[in-house]
Amino acid sequence: MATYDLYAKDPGAPLWQVPATGAARFSWEYDEGRDRLLALYQKGKDKQWDGQKRIDWDLEVDPYDPLGTPDESISIYGTPYWARMNDRDKGELRKHFASWQFSQFLHGEQGAMVCAARIVESVPDLDAKLYSATQTMDEARHAEIYARFLHEKIGMLYPVNDNLQSLLGDTLRDSRWDMPYLGMQVLIEGLALAAFGMIRDTTDKPLPKQILAYVMQDEARHVAFGRMALRDYYKQLTDAELREREEFVIEGCYLMRDRLRGVEVLENFGIPKAEAEEYSERSEFLALFRQLLFSRIVPCVKDIGLWGKRLQQAYVDMGVFDMGNSNLDLLMAQDEELAEQLDAERFAAEEKARVAEVEEAINAGAES
Ligand SMILES: [Fe+2]
Ligand SMILES: [Fe+2]
Repeated sequence: MATYDLYAKDPGAPLWQVPATGAARFSWEYDEGRDRLLALYQKGKDKQWDGQKRIDWDLEVDPYDPLGTPDESISIYGTPYWARMNDRDKGELRKHFASWQFSQFLHGEQGAMVCAARIVESVPDLDAKLYSATQTMDEARHAEIYARFLHEKIGMLYPVNDNLQSLLGDTLRDSRWDMPYLGMQVLIEGLALAAFGMIRDTTDKPLPKQILAYVMQDEARHVAFGRMALRDYYKQLTDAELREREEFVIEGCYLMRDRLRGVEVLENFGIPKAEAEEYSERSEFLALFRQLLFSRIVPCVKDIGLWGKRLQQAYVDMGVFDMGNSNLDLLMAQDEELAEQLDAERFAAEEKARVAEVEEAINAGAES
Protein backbone atom coordinates (compact mmCIF):
# COMPACT_ATOMS: atom_id res chain seq x y z
CA MET A 1 0.00 0.00 0.00
CA ALA A 2 1.32 3.44 -0.87
CA THR A 3 2.70 5.21 2.20
CA TYR A 4 0.77 8.33 1.25
CA ASP A 5 -2.48 6.49 2.01
CA LEU A 6 -1.26 5.72 5.54
CA TYR A 7 -0.18 9.17 6.74
CA ALA A 8 -2.21 10.41 9.70
CA LYS A 9 -1.38 13.98 8.64
CA ASP A 10 -0.59 15.43 5.25
CA PRO A 11 3.21 15.26 4.82
CA GLY A 12 3.21 17.86 2.03
CA ALA A 13 5.23 17.42 -1.17
CA PRO A 14 6.53 13.88 -1.77
CA LEU A 15 10.15 15.01 -2.16
CA TRP A 16 12.30 17.15 0.10
CA GLN A 17 15.31 18.58 -1.67
CA VAL A 18 18.30 19.88 0.24
CA PRO A 19 20.83 21.53 -2.09
CA ALA A 20 24.24 19.85 -1.81
CA THR A 21 27.20 21.93 -0.70
CA GLY A 22 30.86 21.17 -0.20
CA ALA A 23 33.31 19.07 -2.16
CA ALA A 24 33.43 15.41 -3.16
CA ARG A 25 36.89 14.21 -2.18
CA PHE A 26 39.08 11.48 -3.66
CA SER A 27 42.11 10.06 -1.92
CA TRP A 28 44.87 8.31 -3.89
CA GLU A 29 46.39 6.87 -0.74
CA TYR A 30 44.96 3.37 -0.44
CA ASP A 31 47.27 1.81 2.10
CA GLU A 32 47.60 4.13 5.06
CA GLY A 33 44.41 3.49 6.97
CA ARG A 34 44.18 3.80 10.75
CA ASP A 35 44.15 0.32 12.29
CA ARG A 36 41.22 0.99 14.57
CA LEU A 37 39.11 2.39 11.78
CA LEU A 38 39.97 -0.48 9.44
CA ALA A 39 39.11 -2.96 12.19
CA LEU A 40 35.74 -1.25 12.51
CA TYR A 41 35.28 -1.49 8.73
CA GLN A 42 36.02 -5.23 8.94
CA LYS A 43 33.49 -5.57 11.74
CA GLY A 44 30.97 -3.61 9.69
CA LYS A 45 31.37 -6.16 6.88
CA ASP A 46 31.32 -9.20 9.19
CA LYS A 47 28.17 -8.11 10.97
CA GLN A 48 25.93 -7.50 7.98
CA TRP A 49 22.53 -9.17 8.25
CA ASP A 50 19.20 -9.29 6.43
CA GLY A 51 16.15 -7.82 8.11
CA GLN A 52 13.83 -10.00 6.03
CA LYS A 53 15.44 -13.13 7.48
CA ARG A 54 16.73 -12.28 10.94
CA ILE A 55 13.49 -10.76 12.18
CA ASP A 56 10.48 -12.99 12.77
CA TRP A 57 7.88 -11.04 10.82
CA ASP A 58 5.21 -13.67 11.52
CA LEU A 59 4.89 -12.38 15.08
CA GLU A 60 1.60 -10.61 15.53
CA VAL A 61 1.37 -7.03 16.74
CA ASP A 62 -1.75 -5.41 18.17
CA PRO A 63 -1.76 -1.97 16.51
CA TYR A 64 -3.79 -0.61 19.42
CA ASP A 65 -1.11 -1.69 21.89
CA PRO A 66 2.03 -2.29 19.85
CA LEU A 67 4.53 -1.77 22.68
CA GLY A 68 2.59 -2.65 25.84
CA THR A 69 3.02 0.92 27.07
CA PRO A 70 1.58 1.60 30.53
CA ASP A 71 -1.14 4.29 30.71
CA GLU A 72 0.96 6.47 33.03
CA SER A 73 3.48 7.04 30.28
CA ILE A 74 0.92 8.79 28.08
CA SER A 75 1.23 12.54 28.46
CA ILE A 76 -2.48 13.23 28.90
CA TYR A 77 -2.93 10.48 31.48
CA GLY A 78 -4.87 11.89 34.44
CA THR A 79 -6.22 14.90 32.52
CA PRO A 80 -9.90 15.58 31.70
CA TYR A 81 -9.21 14.47 28.10
CA TRP A 82 -8.07 11.08 29.36
CA ALA A 83 -11.09 10.77 31.66
CA ARG A 84 -13.42 11.32 28.69
CA MET A 85 -11.81 8.57 26.62
CA ASN A 86 -13.22 5.05 26.39
CA ASP A 87 -11.03 1.99 25.77
CA ARG A 88 -11.35 2.32 22.03
CA ASP A 89 -10.17 5.95 22.09
CA LYS A 90 -7.24 4.99 24.30
CA GLY A 91 -6.25 2.21 21.92
CA GLU A 92 -6.47 4.66 19.05
CA LEU A 93 -4.26 7.13 20.91
CA ARG A 94 -1.65 4.42 21.62
CA LYS A 95 -1.63 3.52 17.96
CA HIS A 96 -1.03 7.14 16.98
CA PHE A 97 1.78 7.57 19.51
CA ALA A 98 3.56 4.40 18.39
CA SER A 99 3.09 5.41 14.77
CA TRP A 100 4.45 8.88 15.47
CA GLN A 101 7.48 7.58 17.35
CA PHE A 102 8.45 4.86 14.89
CA SER A 103 7.83 7.24 11.98
CA GLN A 104 10.41 9.61 13.47
CA PHE A 105 12.78 6.63 13.77
CA LEU A 106 12.11 5.81 10.13
CA HIS A 107 12.67 9.36 8.84
CA GLY A 108 15.76 9.59 11.03
CA GLU A 109 17.12 6.36 9.52
CA GLN A 110 16.61 7.72 6.03
CA GLY A 111 18.50 10.81 7.19
CA ALA A 112 21.25 8.61 8.61
CA MET A 113 21.57 6.78 5.29
CA VAL A 114 21.84 10.07 3.39
CA CYS A 115 24.39 11.45 5.89
CA ALA A 116 26.48 8.26 5.83
CA ALA A 117 26.54 8.47 2.03
CA ARG A 118 27.49 12.15 2.29
CA ILE A 119 30.40 11.18 4.53
CA VAL A 120 31.56 8.62 1.96
CA GLU A 121 31.60 11.46 -0.54
CA SER A 122 33.14 14.25 1.48
CA VAL A 123 35.47 12.82 4.14
CA PRO A 124 39.12 13.12 3.04
CA ASP A 125 40.44 9.78 4.35
CA LEU A 126 39.88 6.52 2.56
CA ASP A 127 39.56 4.43 5.75
CA ALA A 128 36.61 6.60 6.82
CA LYS A 129 35.03 6.32 3.35
CA LEU A 130 35.26 2.53 3.47
CA TYR A 131 33.72 2.35 6.90
CA SER A 132 30.95 4.80 6.09
CA ALA A 133 29.99 2.74 3.05
CA THR A 134 29.13 -0.14 5.43
CA GLN A 135 27.17 2.25 7.59
CA THR A 136 25.19 3.45 4.57
CA MET A 137 24.08 -0.16 4.07
CA ASP A 138 23.26 -0.54 7.79
CA GLU A 139 21.05 2.54 7.67
CA ALA A 140 19.30 1.30 4.52
CA ARG A 141 18.47 -1.89 6.41
CA HIS A 142 17.15 0.10 9.37
CA ALA A 143 14.95 2.27 7.17
CA GLU A 144 13.64 -0.84 5.42
CA ILE A 145 12.79 -2.54 8.73
CA TYR A 146 11.04 0.43 10.34
CA ALA A 147 9.08 1.05 7.13
CA ARG A 148 7.94 -2.57 7.05
CA PHE A 149 6.95 -2.47 10.72
CA LEU A 150 4.88 0.68 10.20
CA HIS A 151 3.22 -0.48 7.01
CA GLU A 152 2.47 -4.07 8.01
CA LYS A 153 2.03 -3.95 11.76
CA ILE A 154 0.80 -0.47 12.68
CA GLY A 155 -0.82 0.62 9.43
CA MET A 156 -0.20 4.31 10.00
CA LEU A 157 2.63 6.83 9.56
CA TYR A 158 3.35 10.37 10.64
CA PRO A 159 5.27 12.99 8.64
CA VAL A 160 8.73 14.02 9.79
CA ASN A 161 8.71 16.25 12.85
CA ASP A 162 9.58 19.92 12.17
CA ASN A 163 12.51 20.02 14.59
CA LEU A 164 14.02 16.81 13.29
CA GLN A 165 13.72 18.08 9.74
CA SER A 166 15.26 21.38 10.69
CA LEU A 167 18.30 19.73 12.29
CA LEU A 168 18.66 17.38 9.34
CA GLY A 169 18.60 20.36 6.98
CA ASP A 170 21.21 22.27 9.00
CA THR A 171 23.41 19.18 9.07
CA LEU A 172 23.24 18.60 5.32
CA ARG A 173 23.49 22.22 4.19
CA ASP A 174 26.81 22.73 5.97
CA SER A 175 29.83 22.35 3.70
CA ARG A 176 32.30 21.35 6.44
CA TRP A 177 32.87 17.61 6.20
CA ASP A 178 32.65 16.97 9.93
CA MET A 179 29.13 18.40 10.26
CA PRO A 180 27.22 15.32 9.06
CA TYR A 181 29.12 13.41 11.74
CA LEU A 182 28.29 15.91 14.41
CA GLY A 183 24.65 16.48 13.47
CA MET A 184 23.82 12.91 12.55
CA GLN A 185 26.22 10.52 14.28
CA VAL A 186 26.42 12.40 17.54
CA LEU A 187 23.14 14.32 17.96
CA ILE A 188 20.36 12.64 16.00
CA GLU A 189 21.70 9.10 16.40
CA GLY A 190 22.71 9.61 20.00
CA LEU A 191 19.21 10.64 20.82
CA ALA A 192 17.56 7.94 18.75
CA LEU A 193 19.75 5.34 20.38
CA ALA A 194 18.65 6.36 23.85
CA ALA A 195 15.00 6.22 22.74
CA PHE A 196 15.50 2.79 21.11
CA GLY A 197 17.13 1.55 24.30
CA MET A 198 14.34 2.70 26.56
CA ILE A 199 11.72 0.95 24.43
CA ARG A 200 13.88 -2.17 23.93
CA ASP A 201 14.31 -2.53 27.67
CA THR A 202 10.70 -1.88 28.65
CA THR A 203 8.52 -3.42 25.94
CA ASP A 204 7.16 -6.91 26.50
CA LYS A 205 6.26 -7.34 22.83
CA PRO A 206 8.65 -9.65 20.98
CA LEU A 207 8.65 -8.08 17.49
CA PRO A 208 9.53 -4.48 18.42
CA LYS A 209 12.07 -5.91 20.87
CA GLN A 210 13.83 -7.86 18.12
CA ILE A 211 13.84 -4.87 15.80
CA LEU A 212 15.29 -2.52 18.37
CA ALA A 213 17.89 -4.96 19.70
CA TYR A 214 19.25 -5.72 16.22
CA VAL A 215 19.23 -2.12 15.05
CA MET A 216 21.07 -1.11 18.22
CA GLN A 217 23.75 -3.70 17.60
CA ASP A 218 24.64 -1.82 14.40
CA GLU A 219 24.34 1.60 16.01
CA ALA A 220 27.06 0.70 18.53
CA ARG A 221 29.52 0.66 15.58
CA HIS A 222 28.19 3.96 14.23
CA VAL A 223 28.77 5.73 17.50
CA ALA A 224 32.28 4.27 17.71
CA PHE A 225 32.98 5.62 14.22
CA GLY A 226 31.79 9.13 14.99
CA ARG A 227 33.85 9.23 18.15
CA MET A 228 37.04 8.00 16.50
CA ALA A 229 36.82 10.32 13.54
CA LEU A 230 35.87 13.45 15.46
CA ARG A 231 38.23 12.92 18.36
CA ASP A 232 41.15 12.81 15.91
CA TYR A 233 39.96 15.79 13.91
CA TYR A 234 38.92 18.09 16.76
CA LYS A 235 42.39 17.87 18.26
CA GLN A 236 43.60 19.84 15.24
CA LEU A 237 40.99 22.62 15.35
CA THR A 238 41.45 26.09 16.83
CA ASP A 239 39.48 27.24 19.84
CA ALA A 240 37.27 29.40 17.64
CA GLU A 241 36.49 26.46 15.38
CA LEU A 242 35.67 24.29 18.37
CA ARG A 243 33.34 26.97 19.78
CA GLU A 244 31.43 27.00 16.48
CA ARG A 245 30.86 23.27 16.77
CA GLU A 246 29.72 23.70 20.35
CA GLU A 247 27.15 26.31 19.32
CA PHE A 248 25.82 23.86 16.78
CA VAL A 249 25.56 21.17 19.45
CA ILE A 250 23.75 23.47 21.89
CA GLU A 251 21.20 24.52 19.33
CA GLY A 252 20.74 20.96 18.11
CA CYS A 253 20.19 19.66 21.63
CA TYR A 254 17.43 22.17 22.30
CA LEU A 255 15.79 21.32 18.99
CA MET A 256 15.97 17.62 19.76
CA ARG A 257 14.66 18.01 23.26
CA ASP A 258 11.62 19.85 21.99
CA ARG A 259 10.92 17.36 19.23
CA LEU A 260 10.10 14.70 21.77
CA ARG A 261 6.77 15.89 22.92
CA GLY A 262 4.53 14.31 20.33
CA VAL A 263 2.37 17.41 20.36
CA GLU A 264 1.26 16.74 16.77
CA VAL A 265 -0.39 13.51 17.95
CA LEU A 266 -2.44 15.26 20.62
CA GLU A 267 -3.43 17.97 18.14
CA ASN A 268 -4.79 15.20 15.95
CA PHE A 269 -7.06 14.28 18.86
CA GLY A 270 -8.52 17.75 19.05
CA ILE A 271 -6.36 19.04 21.89
CA PRO A 272 -5.24 22.64 21.27
CA LYS A 273 -1.50 23.02 20.71
CA ALA A 274 -0.78 25.18 23.75
CA GLU A 275 -2.59 22.78 26.01
CA ALA A 276 -0.87 19.77 24.44
CA GLU A 277 2.50 21.41 25.01
CA GLU A 278 1.65 22.09 28.61
CA TYR A 279 0.58 18.48 29.27
CA SER A 280 3.77 17.20 27.69
CA GLU A 281 5.85 19.63 29.71
CA ARG A 282 4.13 18.66 32.94
CA SER A 283 4.22 14.89 32.45
CA GLU A 284 6.65 13.38 34.98
CA PHE A 285 7.24 10.41 32.77
CA LEU A 286 8.14 12.56 29.79
CA ALA A 287 10.44 14.71 31.91
CA LEU A 288 12.38 11.61 32.91
CA PHE A 289 12.29 10.32 29.33
CA ARG A 290 13.66 13.63 28.03
CA GLN A 291 16.55 13.51 30.46
CA LEU A 292 17.42 9.92 29.70
CA LEU A 293 17.44 10.77 26.03
CA PHE A 294 20.65 12.65 26.58
CA SER A 295 22.42 9.72 28.22
CA ARG A 296 24.23 8.91 24.98
CA ILE A 297 24.85 12.40 23.64
CA VAL A 298 26.43 14.10 26.63
CA PRO A 299 29.26 11.60 27.26
CA CYS A 300 29.95 11.45 23.52
CA VAL A 301 30.24 15.22 23.13
CA LYS A 302 32.57 15.35 26.11
CA ASP A 303 34.65 12.50 24.73
CA ILE A 304 35.27 14.12 21.35
CA GLY A 305 36.57 17.26 23.02
CA LEU A 306 33.63 19.66 22.79
CA TRP A 307 33.37 20.58 26.43
CA GLY A 308 33.63 24.37 26.63
CA LYS A 309 31.99 26.52 29.28
CA ARG A 310 28.90 27.46 27.27
CA LEU A 311 28.16 23.89 26.37
CA GLN A 312 28.61 22.74 29.97
CA GLN A 313 26.26 25.49 31.11
CA ALA A 314 23.64 24.47 28.55
CA TYR A 315 23.72 20.92 29.89
CA VAL A 316 23.45 22.19 33.44
CA ASP A 317 20.37 24.20 32.39
CA MET A 318 18.85 21.16 30.73
CA GLY A 319 19.50 19.07 33.83
CA VAL A 320 21.64 16.51 31.97
CA PHE A 321 25.18 17.62 32.86
CA ASP A 322 25.90 14.60 35.08
CA MET A 323 25.33 12.26 32.18
CA GLY A 324 28.74 13.28 30.91
CA ASN A 325 30.13 10.74 33.33
CA SER A 326 28.27 7.72 32.02
CA ASN A 327 30.36 5.00 30.46
CA LEU A 328 29.68 4.94 26.72
CA ASP A 329 31.95 1.98 26.03
CA LEU A 330 30.04 -0.11 28.52
CA LEU A 331 26.65 0.94 27.09
CA MET A 332 27.77 0.05 23.56
CA ALA A 333 29.20 -3.31 24.63
CA GLN A 334 25.88 -4.09 26.33
CA ASP A 335 23.95 -3.18 23.17
CA GLU A 336 25.98 -5.67 21.16
CA GLU A 337 25.71 -8.35 23.79
CA LEU A 338 21.95 -8.00 24.14
CA ALA A 339 21.42 -8.59 20.42
CA GLU A 340 23.65 -11.66 20.49
CA GLN A 341 21.85 -13.00 23.53
CA LEU A 342 18.51 -12.59 21.83
CA ASP A 343 19.85 -14.49 18.80
CA ALA A 344 21.18 -17.23 21.04
CA GLU A 345 17.83 -17.66 22.77
CA ARG A 346 15.88 -17.63 19.55
CA PHE A 347 18.13 -19.97 17.62
CA ALA A 348 19.02 -22.42 20.39
CA ALA A 349 15.81 -24.32 19.78
CA GLU A 350 16.31 -24.33 16.00
CA GLU A 351 19.89 -25.43 16.35
CA LYS A 352 18.88 -28.34 18.54
CA ALA A 353 16.44 -29.52 15.92
CA ARG A 354 19.06 -29.13 13.20
CA VAL A 355 21.68 -31.15 15.11
CA ALA A 356 19.17 -33.91 15.73
CA GLU A 357 18.43 -34.01 12.02
CA VAL A 358 22.12 -34.23 11.10
CA GLU A 359 22.71 -37.00 13.65
CA GLU A 360 19.80 -38.90 12.28
CA ALA A 361 21.19 -38.61 8.76
CA ILE A 362 24.62 -39.78 9.92
CA ASN A 363 23.12 -42.76 11.74
CA ALA A 364 21.05 -43.62 8.73
CA GLY A 365 24.22 -43.42 6.57
CA ALA A 366 26.17 -45.64 9.00
CA GLU A 367 23.48 -48.26 8.95
CA SER A 368 23.19 -48.54 5.19
FE1 LIG B 1 20.37 3.45 11.97
FE1 LIG C 1 23.24 4.67 12.66
